[in-house]
Amino acid sequence: MRPEPDCRLCGLCEGRTNIVMPDGSYDTGIVFVGEAPGENEDNKGRPFVGRSGQILEGMMHDAGFSRSDVLITNTVKCRPPNNRDPTKEEMVACRPFLESELYDAELVIGLGKSACRDLMGYEGKMDEIVNVPITINIRGRDVNFIPTYHPAATIYNKNARAELRRTIETVGEMLR
Ligand code: URA
Repeated sequence: MRPEPDCRLCGLCEGRTNIVMPDGSYDTGIVFVGEAPGENEDNKGRPFVGRSGQILEGMMHDAGFSRSDVLITNTVKCRPPNNRDPTKEEMVACRPFLESELYDAELVIGLGKSACRDLMGYEGKMDEIVNVPITINIRGRDVNFIPTYHPAATIYNKNARAELRRTIETVGEMLR
């Protein structure tokens, strides 16, 4: 299930250039879920192609895999104005598409607080849950989930960078 090209299920349709659909492969069953497209992603119609994408790709490379080995997506498929966090209502409107993307997933990586809010219902601080694996329920099926920092949060925060690196190394080990 994917949004119609002229999807108007939430207000984010007003400002978008492109609906940003997942990128990569469904084959490994590993899905990275970010927050929302930013300006670069909105322009190119592809997730994680700006600074956050560079950070993610660099860590994946160091861990021995590439973005094309996994699926990369977001809680919402359209860019929120001024890069604000997506609202609960916007995430709920986009949820059926995310659930379709997670249909066969074996491991989901939640990148940052919006992904953890959407998929775990978590409203607390990231440092209390980072890299603690849990199980989430997607359409009646239990799926392994690892909460971690968003790449953007690692730019000025060494600890966050080390934690995200640890998450991505775990994925690298699984892929070997
Ligand atoms: N940040 C995200 O959460 N998603 C993207 O696609 C790009 C930046």
